[in-house]
Amino acid sequence: AEPNQDYDLETPINSTSGLRQGLTSYGDAHFSLFLRKVFIKALGYSEDALSRPIIGIINTFSGFNPCHANVPQLIEAAKRSVQLNGGLAIDFPTISVAESFSHPTSMFLRNLMSMDTEEMIKAQPLDACIMIGGCDKTVPAQLMGGISANKPILPLITGPMLPGSHRGKRIGACTDCRNNWAAFRAGEIDVEEISAINEELAPTIGTCGVMGTASTMACITAALGMMPLRGASAPAVSSARLRIAEETGANAVAVAKAARKPQEILSKESFLNAITVLQAIGGSTNAVVHLLAIANRHPDLQGVITLQTFEEIGQKTPLLIDLKPSGDNYMNDFHNAGGMMALLQVLRPLLHLSAKTISGQTLGEVLDASQSRLSFAQDIIRPFSNPLHPSSSLAVLHGNLAPNGAIIKASASKYRSLLTHTGPAVVFENSADLAQRIDDPELNVTKDSVLVLKGIGPIGNPGMPEAGLIPIPKKIAATGVKDMLRLSDGRMSGTAGGTIILHISPEAAVPDSPFGVVETGDMITCDIESRRLHLEVSDDVLQARISQRKQILESETGPVQARKQRRGYRGLYERSVNQAHEGTDFDFLTAGGASN
Ligand code: FES
Ligand code: MG
Repeated sequence: AEPNQDYDLETPINSTSGLRQGLTSYGDAHFSLFLRKVFIKALGYSEDALSRPIIGIINTFSGFNPCHANVPQLIEAAKRSVQLNGGLAIDFPTISVAESFSHPTSMFLRNLMSMDTEEMIKAQPLDACIMIGGCDKTVPAQLMGGISANKPILPLITGPMLPGSHRGKRIGACTDCRNNWAAFRAGEIDVEEISAINEELAPTIGTCGVMGTASTMACITAALGMMPLRGASAPAVSSARLRIAEETGANAVAVAKAARKPQEILSKESFLNAITVLQAIGGSTNAVVHLLAIANRHPDLQGVITLQTFEEIGQKTPLLIDLKPSGDNYMNDFHNAGGMMALLQVLRPLLHLSAKTISGQTLGEVLDASQSRLSFAQDIIRPFSNPLHPSSSLAVLHGNLAPNGAIIKASASKYRSLLTHTGPAVVFENSADLAQRIDDPELNVTKDSVLVLKGIGPIGNPGMPEAGLIPIPKKIAATGVKDMLRLSDGRMSGTAGGTIILHISPEAAVPDSPFGVVETGDMITCDIESRRLHLEVSDDVLQARISQRKQILESETGPVQARKQRRGYRGLYERSVNQAHEGTDFDFLTAGGASN
């Protein structure tokens, strides 16, 4: 007999279909497509269904993740809309990272989630991908992975929880978790009351309801132009949230047809806009690390966005949003006040309006289309004439103690005099040392001391835990002191406040880190005006201490050797993670690949 024609590659599967991507897995393209269709048909799809743009939806539901508890409803709404708009929606899982249940810290798992996200988007036959995330590390992980995969991606946020109520006062996770715990430690409230408060701090599903990391990353994702502006703030339990999922489904089909990829949408200007928003919302310090990691995944932006970019934008951007922890209110207040749409109208003079968005319009066009809807008096989103904090809510410090930079959320300082302060260091070598001694009645500490916690950086305590909120020693707290100058190479929760210097780079675990050689009794100066963080020790003494310590760290039995031998993901993490000022990404995942 005569050989048959080749298997039809063009119909009914259209030329843009994800099913046709990378058809080399099983020899020739025709056989590969034939096989793929065999197996996808096992799921019951018809040739007609398979002829539509295939929209993947990343399912990050987990029974351990209350911040993502509405993911099934969001999938249903997004699917409905994909199908109504002529696409075929197919959901699939990636790992889910919940802040509270990710030992040793969720940041440890962020890069893993980004790898899972990137590889599954690349591997599967999809034309566009809706990425459902919400809890702190999930949105950055998905943006990092999605940008590296560079197929059309559409972030969809789970949304914030509503506040609870205690004795007539609104409370919410997790700023009020910390305030109330501090009050309990200081003996201001008793165990019955703190237990009652425990019941109300997270009264619904959804992400933390203040301007913590989750809310900050949601606002930033909108500012980057990657999702509808309303998508940043609608409560997790609202019907508005489901309509945003519908809108995302419709957008996904359009973005798939236009093949609009994240590396084309995102530019330097998109990131400048995002950083402007970060400063204006008094956003989480964690977002600095995440934004650096996200930008460094983009081949054109690697090394273009630096800590200095945050500092420069901060100097001209006031804090305008009155939300905890810098202010008094909750995310649903921000939503009801007009959310990101209203904020961006106010910020307009500081924004790069030509930046592209996922819709195909520029940011300026998006804002023009919405202008009339938002003009009412309010106090949640302030005008430039009445900011909550004049500028630089997040400031970048440098000095001999942090040659590669450090971060402070100046707007969350409780005693502003501490922002310009010199005091003697009380040093804790690591978290265990801190836990053991911080409340020791014999600890030599006053309210003017500078509390220093080492060993909680990206390598030192892998993942850089949110332990930077060093508690006020009990005996000092008992005298009514609510804030002290505190320093670490770790992070702190976006929901926390105080005069806290974080992300000191290089971290103590790096053999030639100056921060690693601070000793109890050394004088430390923080000067917010000159953005200086200085150890009052001569260069000679500092260098001598560093070289002595370096020998110990790099010796045969030292930690540097031990890290080379470590197995598993932790070993990979410790050997590959870069420093906070670079985003704590793995060196081999950045756009430029491994740096060493
Ligand atoms: Fe998930 Fe706060 S614990 S957002
Ligand atoms: Mg958090």
